[in-house]
Amino acid sequence: MRDAGLSLPRNDPRQYDDLAGEWWRPDGAFAMLHWLAQARAALVPPAARPGALLVDLGCGAGLLAPHLVGKGYRHVGVDLTRSALIQAADHGVTVVNGDATAVPLADGCADVVAAGELLEHVPDWRAAVAQACRLLRPGGLLVLDTLNDTALSRLVAVRIAERLPTVPRGIHDPRLFVDDRELVAECARHGVDLRVRGVRPAVPGLLRWLLRRARGIETPSGQVPRIVPTASAAVLYQGHGVRDG
Ligand SMILES: C[S@@+](CC[C@H](N)C(=O)[O-])C[C@H]1O[C@@H](n2cnc3c(N)ncnc32)[C@H](O)[C@@H]1O
Repeated sequence: MRDAGLSLPRNDPRQYDDLAGEWWRPDGAFAMLHWLAQARAALVPPAARPGALLVDLGCGAGLLAPHLVGKGYRHVGVDLTRSALIQAADHGVTVVNGDATAVPLADGCADVVAAGELLEHVPDWRAAVAQACRLLRPGGLLVLDTLNDTALSRLVAVRIAERLPTVPRGIHDPRLFVDDRELVAECARHGVDLRVRGVRPAVPGLLRWLLRRARGIETPSGQVPRIVPTASAAVLYQGHGVRDG
C-alpha cells in the first residue's frame, strides 16, 4: 500500500484508488468506516413501503450494504471513485459514478439519504447538503456522520489519528471539516430538521482492537469496536433529520 499522504495532496480522491484493497479488510486502513457504517445503519428504520430507495452519497465500496440487509431498501450509491464503486456493486449496491454536489437522480426520489464520512471530503459541502435534501421525498430521512470544524477535531482526527492504524495519512484536509451548527442551519434552509450528537468508538473495544491488531490477530466478526454517543460533538458527530412537507 502506498502511503497516500506522502505522495498526493491531502484529500486528493486518487488516494481511494491507492487504498482500494483496504475497503473490505476489517482490520485495514478503513476499519473505522465499518464501525461507523454499523452505527449509521442503526439510525435507518425498516423501509415503510415496497420499493423504498436509499441513496448513499459518497458510498465508497458500499460498506453500509451489509447493515441494510433485511431492511427492505434498494441501495443506490453515488461516488466519484470508480475503483470503490466496482466493489460496492459486488456487494449489491446499484452504483452511480458521480459527484455528490451534482447528483443525476430525480428530486424527491429517496426515502433515505445517507452521507457517511462524506461532507468533510467535499470542498463545497453545502452543495452536497443541498443535493441530499433535494433527493429526499417529504418525510424522508437524512442520516450522516462527519468531522467537526474544531481545534480538538483537527488534533484528534488528523494529528493523533493519522499516527494510528485507523486513519490513512493524508486522507483528511482539516480545512474541509464541517461545523455542526452551520450544518444544522444549512439543512434547515433545505427543509430538514437535523439533530446531531457526538459519537466515538467505545474505549475498551478500541483498545482491544488496537492490541489485537498490533499482535497481528484478526478481529473476530461481531467484535469490532462499537460506536457510542458522547457528550460532545466537537470531533465526530452523527446527524439525522426528516425532510418537511
Ligand atoms: C471516507 S470515504 C467514506 C465512504 C463511505 N461513505 C463509508 O463510510 O464507507 C469518502 C468517500 O467519498 C467519496 N467522495 C469524495 N468526494 C466526493 C464527491 N464530491 N462526490 C462523491 N463522492 C465523493 C470518496 O470517493 C470516498 O469513497
